[in-house]
Amino acid sequence: MDCFLGIDLGSSSVKVSILDGDTGNVIAKGMAPETEAPILSVRNGWAEQNPEDWWAYLKTALRQAMASSNVKAEDVKAVGITYQMHGLVLVDKDLRVLRPSIIWCDSRAVPYGEKAFEDLGRDYCLTHLLNSPGNFTVAKLAWVRENEPVVFDTIYKYMLPGDYLAMRMTGEVRTTVPGLSEGMCWDFVDNKLSDRLLSYFGIPKEMVAETVSTFGEQGRVSRSAAEELGLCAGIPISYRAGDQPNNAFSLNVLNPGEVAATAGTSGVVYGISDKVNTDPHSRINMFAHVNHSADNPRLGVMHCTNGVGIMNAWMKRTVASHVSYEQFNDMAAQVPIGSDGVTILPFGNGAERILENRQLDASIHGVNFNNHNASTLARAAQEGVAFSFKYGMDIMQATGMGTKVIRAGHANMFLSPVFRTTLSTVADAVIELYETDGSVGAATGAALGCGYYSTPGEAFLSLRKIKVVTPDRDHHDQYLEAYSRWERVLRREVGV
Ligand code: XUL
Repeated sequence: MDCFLGIDLGSSSVKVSILDGDTGNVIAKGMAPETEAPILSVRNGWAEQNPEDWWAYLKTALRQAMASSNVKAEDVKAVGITYQMHGLVLVDKDLRVLRPSIIWCDSRAVPYGEKAFEDLGRDYCLTHLLNSPGNFTVAKLAWVRENEPVVFDTIYKYMLPGDYLAMRMTGEVRTTVPGLSEGMCWDFVDNKLSDRLLSYFGIPKEMVAETVSTFGEQGRVSRSAAEELGLCAGIPISYRAGDQPNNAFSLNVLNPGEVAATAGTSGVVYGISDKVNTDPHSRINMFAHVNHSADNPRLGVMHCTNGVGIMNAWMKRTVASHVSYEQFNDMAAQVPIGSDGVTILPFGNGAERILENRQLDASIHGVNFNNHNASTLARAAQEGVAFSFKYGMDIMQATGMGTKVIRAGHANMFLSPVFRTTLSTVADAVIELYETDGSVGAATGAALGCGYYSTPGEAFLSLRKIKVVTPDRDHHDQYLEAYSRWERVLRREVGV
C-alpha cells in the first residue's frame, strides 16, 4: 500500500491523517491533546507554546492513527507538514530549543515591526516585503535580541513551528520561501532574503535556515525519529506549508481569483493573485503561495481574525461547558438574527492585523439581564466572528480581491449553520464546503511532493464537495442591519 502522512501542527492540537494514495481516501486519523492545547500567557498579550509539547502531541496522534488502522510503518511513503504560521522557534548549535516558542498571536513584537514599517518606509515595505514587518516572525526575533540578549547570543538558527517539527524528524534545519515570506524576510522585488530588514533588526543572515522547495524532498526521517514515531527511517518529508496556504492547497485553490477560507483558532479568507495589490495600512497580508515562483507569481492575499474558534471555544467553556459543540451550535440557532441586540467583538487573541495591529480585546455589548442568556451569547459570538470576516473581506475587496465563491473544509466553525449562513449572507458569497482538512491537505501535498501524483488535478480527483451554503435572501436586511450595528460598535471602540 502507498500511504502518505499529513501532520497539522495547530494552536489547539496536532492532527494527523494517513491517505491511501491509490483511492485518495483517508484511512486513519489521530489528534492530540484531546482538549485544546494550552497557550501559555505569562503577560497579557503574550502567547507561547513549548515545542517539546508539539513533538509529544505528534507522537500520541500518530500512535492513535496507526493503532486505529491496518497501516504498517512500511506503507507510509512520504510525510507532509502544515503548521501555525509566524511563530518563532530558536535552537542552539546542538539543535536544542532555547526558549518557548513565541507563537503567531503573541503581540509583544508589534512595536518593533511597526517602527520598522516607518523607519524603512511604508512604500519600501509594501513593495518589497508586501506587508508591514508587523508582528511577524522576524519582529519577534528583534524582541528577543533586545530583551533576551543572552538567549540571542546562543542562537544557531531561528525557524517556524513547522520547520521545527521537520528538524525533529530529519535533523536538518530548513525552511521554504513561503516560510521566509510569512516571517517577513523575503524580498519579492529582488527575489532573495531581505538583507535590508535583517540588518535593520541586527539579525545575522547565518541565523536564517537553508531553503528547500515547498514540494520536493526536504530531508529524510532519521533513525532515532523513526523509532520514536513508529515510522520507517529514510522516508522523505516532501511538502511543508503554513496552515493558511495549506488550507487553500487542500481545497485546490491555486490560481488567480480562487478563494479559500478557514475558521479554526483564527479565521482567514485567502484568495490567489498574480499581482501585488497591498493595503496601504497592511491590514490585509500577502504571502508567497505554495506554487509561487518569481516567473509565475502566486500570492496569497488574506485577512486574518485571530479570535475565531478561540472566541467560540471561550464562550462555550464560559457559558455552556456541559454541552457539545453541536449542541452549542443548536443553542445559537434558537436565537433570532442579530442576537436580540447583543453585539460581540471577538478580538481577544492578540494584535489584530485588520485593525492595524491594535490589541482591542474582546467585548460584549447590549446585554439585558432579564431576557438574554447563554444562547444569546452563543449566537452573538458566532455572528461577531462572521462580521469580522466581512470587515476584513471589504478591505480585501478594496485591493481588488473579490470573493464570490469561497471554498472551505467542512470543519471547525463551518460546522455551525449560524456562522456559515451569517457569513454567506453578509459577504454575499456562496460557500462550498469540502470533505477535507489541514492534515489531509498536508498528506496530499506529501504525495504530490514526492511525485506519486504528477499534477494537482490528479491529487484532487477525490476531493468531495459536501455542502453549498447560499446567502439567506429572505432575511438579508436583518443580517445587514446586525452587521451595521457591529461595525458601529467597532468604530466606537477603536475611536474612529
Ligand atoms: C495566518 C495566521 C493564523 C495562524 C494560525 O496569517 O496568523 O491563521 O497561521 O495558525
